[in-house]
Amino acid sequence: MRKITVKNSGIIKLQSFDDFPDGRLIVAEIGKHIPFEIRRIYVITNVLEGRSSRGKHAHRKLEQYIFCFNGSCIIELDDGTKKQKMVMRDPRYGIRLGPMLWHVMRRFSKDCVLLVVASDYYDKSDYIRDYKEFLKLAKKKI
Ligand code: TYD
Repeated sequence: MRKITVKNSGIIKLQSFDDFPDGRLIVAEIGKHIPFEIRRIYVITNVLEGRSSRGKHAHRKLEQYIFCFNGSCIIELDDGTKKQKMVMRDPRYGIRLGPMLWHVMRRFSKDCVLLVVASDYYDKSDYIRDYKEFLKLAKKKI
């Protein structure tokens, strides 16, 4: 995977044990691979191939890591100054979705399965869903 240069993001690589012909086992340990206590896990699946997109928001405080455990998609990262596009298809790599990082997932394959681990419970007020508001807040934080 390419290096991530946008702010509040980054890549972690999980440990994997490949045992041909018996498959692959991938492990994430809290404190070792995931640097926060996980309070919530959610899965994104059954996204229609083509023009569907998800995300389109940033969080004020939440820390998350996103993994693509099957299929593929593109993730667009935007810290308010810099943008970067990443292809997600290797289940060993997680992308950090830190605070104040606008993210959009697109170009889902039919079999794409995303898994997200989050540092906190669902909180509607932590979302920034308006891109202009995001840009304003992101510029303030510099
Ligand atoms: P949203 O975070 O907008 O999904 P995505 O970023 O993948 O496009 O959430 C979609 C809906 O699901 C929204 O109505 C809120 C709800 N939701 C929960 O109730 N709990 C959760 O943990 C998450 C992530 C979403």
